Amino acid sequence: MDQPPDRDRAEAQRRVEELRTQIRHHDYRYHVLDEPEIADAEYDELLRELKRLEERFPELITPDSPSQRVGGRPSELFAPAPHLTPMLSLDNAFSREELDAWGKRIERGIGNEVDFVCELKIDGLAVSLLYERGFFTRGATRGDGRVGEDITANLRTLKQIPHRLAGTDHPDRLEIRGEVYLPVSVFDKLNRELGERGDRPFANPRNAAAGSLRQKDSAVTASRALALWIYGTGTHGRRLERHTEELAALRAAGLPVNQVIERAGSLDDVWAYCEKWQRQRHDVDYQIDGVVIKVDRFALRDELGATSKAPRWALAFKFPPEERTSTVQQIAVNTGRTGKVTPFAVLDPVFVGGARVTYATLHNDHEVHRKDVRVGDTVIVRRAGDVIPEVVGPVLEKRPAGTPVWEFPTHCPSCSTALVRKEDEADWRCPNKAGCPSQSVEWLFYFASPGAMDINHLGYETGKALLRRGWVRDPADVYFLTAERLAELPGFKEKSIQNLLGAIAAAKNRPIWRLLVGLNIRRVGEHVAQLLARRFPAIDALAAASLDDLQAIAGIGPEIAAGVQAWFSDPENLALIGKLRRAGLRMRDDESAQKPAGPQPLAGKTIVITGTMKQLSREEATGAAEAAGARVTSSVSKRTDFVVVGESPGTKHEKAVALGVEIVDEAEFLRRLRR
Ligand code: IVH
Repeated sequence: MDQPPDRDRAEAQRRVEELRTQIRHHDYRYHVLDEPEIADAEYDELLRELKRLEERFPELITPDSPSQRVGGRPSELFAPAPHLTPMLSLDNAFSREELDAWGKRIERGIGNEVDFVCELKIDGLAVSLLYERGFFTRGATRGDGRVGEDITANLRTLKQIPHRLAGTDHPDRLEIRGEVYLPVSVFDKLNRELGERGDRPFANPRNAAAGSLRQKDSAVTASRALALWIYGTGTHGRRLERHTEELAALRAAGLPVNQVIERAGSLDDVWAYCEKWQRQRHDVDYQIDGVVIKVDRFALRDELGATSKAPRWALAFKFPPEERTSTVQQIAVNTGRTGKVTPFAVLDPVFVGGARVTYATLHNDHEVHRKDVRVGDTVIVRRAGDVIPEVVGPVLEKRPAGTPVWEFPTHCPSCSTALVRKEDEADWRCPNKAGCPSQSVEWLFYFASPGAMDINHLGYETGKALLRRGWVRDPADVYFLTAERLAELPGFKEKSIQNLLGAIAAAKNRPIWRLLVGLNIRRVGEHVAQLLARRFPAIDALAAASLDDLQAIAGIGPEIAAGVQAWFSDPENLALIGKLRRAGLRMRDDESAQKPAGPQPLAGKTIVITGTMKQLSREEATGAAEAAGARVTSSVSKRTDFVVVGESPGTKHEKAVALGVEIVDEAEFLRRLRR
């Protein structure tokens, strides 16, 4: 085989590194900050480009490459629920060519006598339901594919999940896999109601489903009319030969199995199904983002096997994001809770991606100019089944002559303060943190949101009214509100006043990580806040932490550490903490709240990790060990209980040998984590 020239390899290496940096950045925006910057389809494209390059230059693959990961980490809100059989993900195809290439690999593996099954790819949340001797005993999210979150109580509220399976002779343990979703009609209704109450609507049905399922209070889940499609099993105790037979058996047992599943004898038939459902995707009352193609016979599936990430016997054909054209009526900007000023296009309403779109993000100044979008332009608007509709770019042939270039405003649209931009940043910011109405209302709304202090009944409109009257200037003021004041707000009667005051009182005793999220410290989202609070369960200790202390926390890099320290050095912020303390807020977690939810198999152990692992990045290995109760140190001594040795270990390995410290490999390490 021809070797690619070194020049290509050098270029590929550069691009691979660039892509990894970008993907990690977007993972962080999505999973940690919950503020994605790009559409899912664009993210997929980055990941695909990385995988293509890694396929061509396998020597560039590193264990910590984003391509080697199965999924996100489980959060700490729910108890960990280890899956009996891992929940893998699916490889994607975006074209007929990629579908054919997959078909060829199947043929090479098992010949051409293959029956396929085509199913809709439901855009919801993967769940695993454990039935023991026919009784529903545990329900879990996918988590990282190996350990999910225990959401049994919430799943029990779904009417479609039988507490007991119909029929007899059920296996000891049966793991059922499916996708929970919010019907589009229910989503539209829910968003209308949220809008009427002045609360911010959900971005799409999947987010609404996720928000509804990952609730601490299952009564909220119960009120949301979630639905479910079952598409297979994990651990099963099966005696059937085909997936289609298994689906029929699951249906007979009382589980909801989709009806539009079709068998296909050839890739032409598969393609016809893909094209048909791409056209008809809005004809069903749930969002679909593609088609899943599976080999029907279990024996053939076993022959094909799986990689650590995905089975070889299944493939997801992903629909391209939908695009439409519209006209830009106006380009406006909005100041968010962190002061970041985001430009967006106001469009002639257009129906795209299953929703009516009037606003589309333009991300930042740099993007508006890179795309050269101007007021009056005909533009292509794209909305994958995901968060924010965006302007892809203008149709230049349709640009009216003399259309001027759009200029980013120099002043904040909300408070008229001159905007600032740091040299190395893309975003303009409003520096008027305390006096900018837009930042205040966004911050208040965020502080009260379910991901932070979770103050029920404090919606967007109420927040605005309180700020407008000057009764609330920062979130601490909320805790000093009185019934007399609230009675002056339009629409507030005795019941609603008591509801809001009750919710505010309840939100005095939240865990520290929630308060940290609510404080609106840049780069401190749910995940980072949990890491900080686990190490510093008292606000005062965190405020006094040195840069070194902060950076020593696994998962906290220099930028976050510096940001946190700077935040706690600002007298205005310290004054806010003082005010929250006076309001009676909990300022430290008690012992029981500090303990991670799961068992701690490595409690009391001091360990060292060295070399490169196959399944975990260094950060993940350290995080997992700490979550299991271990103290992870950087140098080997006689007090070290054991050293985990990956590939190409350095001198730490030698030192461990010299000192007679126990050495374990990655597989053994993973076993010890699970014990
Ligand atoms: S089969 C071994 N079938 O797509 C993987 N998955 O990355 C088996 N999904 O979140 C998955 N509809 O929950 C399968 N008809 C379907 C599906 C489906 C949606 C989701 C799945 C996972 C993602 C796969």
